Amino acid sequence: MSFLEDLPKPFFVLAPMDDVTDTVFRQIVADCAKPDLMYTEFVNVDGLQSPGREHLLPKLKLTGKEKPVIAQLWGLNPENFYKSTKDLIEMGYDGVDLNMGCPVKTVIKNGACAALINSRELAGDIIDATKDAAGDALPVSVKTRVGFTTVDMSWIEFLLTKILNMLSIHGRTAKEMSKVPANWDLIGQAAELRNSLSPSTLIVGNGDALNRRQGLELAEKYQLDGIMIGRGILHDPFALAAESPWADWDKRQKLELFAKHIELFIKTYENHERKFEPLRKFCKLYINGFDGASELRAQFMETKTPQQALELLT
Ligand SMILES: Cc1cc2nc3c(=O)[nH]c(=O)nc-3n(C[C@H](O)[C@H](O)[C@H](O)COP(=O)(O)O)c2cc1C
Repeated sequence: MSFLEDLPKPFFVLAPMDDVTDTVFRQIVADCAKPDLMYTEFVNVDGLQSPGREHLLPKLKLTGKEKPVIAQLWGLNPENFYKSTKDLIEMGYDGVDLNMGCPVKTVIKNGACAALINSRELAGDIIDATKDAAGDALPVSVKTRVGFTTVDMSWIEFLLTKILNMLSIHGRTAKEMSKVPANWDLIGQAAELRNSLSPSTLIVGNGDALNRRQGLELAEKYQLDGIMIGRGILHDPFALAAESPWADWDKRQKLELFAKHIELFIKTYENHERKFEPLRKFCKLYINGFDGASELRAQFMETKTPQQALELLT
């Protein structure tokens, strides 16, 4: 039994997004409309267990306000997954997720993430090492896609034989990147496979669901336990709310929320542990939908430090 079984059905999950879902943004989302579950960015275990560890630790900052939070790991060495899972238990995480879906070239050329779809023995060793380390302390989940170059449901079957606590499925192959619409029929098929192969594994669908309303329809249609939303939150920080007020928010309200985000960023990373550049990703979210937004965005892009950005907004 894990806390995942106590979540409402369907439950709503904020997807792992690199340079987006750090502790700061998770706290902002928690204040707007808190999802049932949130993820960290992906964190490389081989880096975490090397002298470069210090550079990765900021990605694993966590406050009680965001919980429950699952940390997502990626990498190649099963022993490093074991050690990193032990680290997550100490840090107070609520679960550990294994990234077997990221299709980015620099990552898959070494055989990690989505490339594990073609490397079942290593994928199995990574899952086994993580489960060993997690024991009863943390639920173990995998986030993946429906195949590498072509749809391959034997991959989903393989993962279901590993008796995971949860399996999140992005309804595209790795080759498709994000270029075609997500195929939810395949996610529905995975849920049916689950019923026979591993009834205790929760199935979470992911891909193109923008908000709670769309997610509810998909969960019902495909009989899913949970819905994961990624880019939707970059259009509306209240995407997980039953009713979002975002469309009615005016310029002042949006800029105040952006300023709160930046202030928290400055406070959280007071030793400049994180670069300013990724904050720019949030420009389109907050500086949008009011007169003069595009001019203000252009000015924002000229700022070089969080302090300068804050001065511009306040
Ligand atoms: C900026 C960005 C960063 C991402 N980083 C990760 C990541 O670290 N780990 C991961 O499993 N998926 C990552 N993804 C993929 C998302 O979690 C999600 O699977 C994908 O965006 C599809 O869902 P959506 O249509 O709701 O956005 C990322 C996506 C985006 C847009």
